[in-house]
Amino acid sequence: MTLTAAGVGSLLAGCAEDEAGGIDLKNPPKGPISLGFSQVGAEGGWRQANTNSIKKAAERNRIDLNFKDAGGDPKKQIADVHSFIDARVNVIAFAPVVETGWGEVLRRARDAAIPVVLTDRLIDEKDTSLWVSSIGAEFASEGNLAAIYLENDYAGTTGTVNVVEILGATGATPTKLRAEGFAATAAKTRRLNIIDKATGDWTKDGGRAAMRKLLDRNKRIDAVFAQNDDMGLGAVIALEEAGKKPGTAPKIVTVDGTKAALQGLADGKLTYVIECSPEIGEPLMSVVVDLFHGGRVPKRIESDKAVFDPQTAADAMTGRTY
Ligand code: AHR
Repeated sequence: MTLTAAGVGSLLAGCAEDEAGGIDLKNPPKGPISLGFSQVGAEGGWRQANTNSIKKAAERNRIDLNFKDAGGDPKKQIADVHSFIDARVNVIAFAPVVETGWGEVLRRARDAAIPVVLTDRLIDEKDTSLWVSSIGAEFASEGNLAAIYLENDYAGTTGTVNVVEILGATGATPTKLRAEGFAATAAKTRRLNIIDKATGDWTKDGGRAAMRKLLDRNKRIDAVFAQNDDMGLGAVIALEEAGKKPGTAPKIVTVDGTKAALQGLADGKLTYVIECSPEIGEPLMSVVVDLFHGGRVPKRIESDKAVFDPQTAADAMTGRTY
């Protein structure tokens, strides 16, 4: 028997239908697969989009999601993962606030035969058997791209380009790897001179405060590498307050690709945006379903990336949900 979407809908007793006659995903039936997911927090636009992607994909795949928000607190996050083991969920997934401190709880998950999937970020553990799969972006190559595009703008000119960097929260994988990628490309070509860095904790307010510090400490800033969009947009505010023309002098490169940043590009306030897709809910659920049925899963799944500039920003905004 072939089932149409409507046919499936009518078979799911007790499940409301939406206006278009499809299944109302606000009230889906619970499936047999349980997933404990621990999120970093709700620090900005990218994270919110990532949370939405995971929740929607769990609904679509009928996965019983036990979602916990760590609020940026590594200790709470580890306690949340312990609670998933106590609850005997089928699979545990988490986006680590920081890379360290995971050995004990993950050995406990392994002893309990609960597979673990890392999302978005990585952990600093030598024993790679502690997780079965990881899904996320190649953060170092995002840093490489930021430097390559920025540097290309100065082709045909002479002299060094003074760059300041606004870093994400200390101890998180993207903070470390985006900085390493950016520095590696800068060191190879020797045009970009990274003169100073300040932490912006991934937030708009943090980026604004960091930019103020960097302006106070440095006479000539030609370019800013902000490790995410929110901090870059905060830097725009601080630069405008200081009478500068962000996007032109200094140029600003950010990472993520939120609608707000693409709008910033279209308005000429940002120079480049390197995309880091937050939409990893579907690949995660597909791994969870395979694990539940005893299938093999890839150890690493990489998310998409792209680079946007003021010319391509408008097109990229079409249909973007975050
Ligand atoms: O780990 C991904 C990073 O975390 C995103 O770039 C940033 O916006 C988020 O807070």
